Amino acid sequence: MRRAKLSRRTIGLIVALAVACTAAACSRSDEPPVVTGAGTAGDAGPSAEVIGTLPDGTTVERFTLRNATGMEVTVATLGAAIHSIRTPDRSGALGDVVLGFETLDQWVANPPYFGVIVGRYANRIAGGRFTLDGTTYTLATNDGPNHLHGGTRGFDKVVWQAEPLPTAGGQAVRFSYVSPDGEEGYPGTLTVNVTYTLTDDNELRLDYEAATDAPTVVNLSNHAYFNLAGDGTVLDHELQIDADRYTPVDATLIPTGELAPVEGTPFDFRSPTPIGARIDADHEQIAIGGGYDHNFVLNGTAGDLRTVVRVYEPTSGRTLEVDTTEPGLQFYSGNFGSPIEGRGGRTYPRHAGFCLETQHFPDSPNQPSFPSTVLRPGETFTSTTVFRFGVRP
Ligand code: BGC
Repeated sequence: MRRAKLSRRTIGLIVALAVACTAAACSRSDEPPVVTGAGTAGDAGPSAEVIGTLPDGTTVERFTLRNATGMEVTVATLGAAIHSIRTPDRSGALGDVVLGFETLDQWVANPPYFGVIVGRYANRIAGGRFTLDGTTYTLATNDGPNHLHGGTRGFDKVVWQAEPLPTAGGQAVRFSYVSPDGEEGYPGTLTVNVTYTLTDDNELRLDYEAATDAPTVVNLSNHAYFNLAGDGTVLDHELQIDADRYTPVDATLIPTGELAPVEGTPFDFRSPTPIGARIDADHEQIAIGGGYDHNFVLNGTAGDLRTVVRVYEPTSGRTLEVDTTEPGLQFYSGNFGSPIEGRGGRTYPRHAGFCLETQHFPDSPNQPSFPSTVLRPGETFTSTTVFRFGVRP
């Protein structure tokens, strides 16, 4: 996590932006917003549509970002979620490379967390408790004995304010959410911005920003499930992760605190290896996860935007590279207990998609040896992840 001292003016700006968004700019009809200069595809900016209304009357909007090469990404205000990413295969045919749902009701329930932003603390906090500055905070235990992805109503379940942004680098939408002090048990009012930008280089860039008015903990990630073939399982995808170590877990998926070498284990993805090659290996950690569900300790310097993951899918020829400033990556191989009814009449089997959740390590608030996830007033949390799509012969 890179943090810089924030001036009062900057904090004021962030708060003002969030407030302005809450007040007016973000309550739009289904008219496409006109944003001068947004995007480089020669149009007026991202288009918006209302995809439904929640029981409390809140409308849910979805924006379509397009680029000059024809790539299309849709993102929605509920959970600031990625709903689809359509990229060309090696023959130029566009296909959706993330798992998704057909109906708003399915997006509301969303048990596997398809596409959403997870927070205030992505991944697990042991026992749903942590102590900060001498005060112990109690959170919901929504995953066995542990707290997962921000609790029963995490950032994935709230409707974010949205603002299309004119940028030079591509079409962009900024989502904002003000998480009240005490929400889901966390201290401090947290103002969060997540900006999605689609560039003409077929990059989907996520810029995260957060500020607080009292000491708290923050860990933000996106939970998209990728399948570069657009169908079937991901077991034949070749995956490379630039990590010499990973964090083994106990039976409830909480890190033991050890940073174990990947060398000689099914967790060694330092050279490209099919996801399925060792997914059923006789290894205690694979058994605990039911496949891969582990945090990798990324090589390089956290805070520097560096390429840490490369994926290649042989039949479509599609590739995906991930750059991040984060120190860790949860590689989750979609170990669904039962098939999930998905988009377009599809049924997603076990391992139909995989997540590359760039993050701080799970349970950091209880593990002093891990990089800190504490955010204090006057500091700003920033984090960037880039998903770069391409093809190979
Ligand atoms: C977690 C998994 C969990 C999945 C869906 C992942 O981030 O690591 O254990 O099943 O999210 O909640």
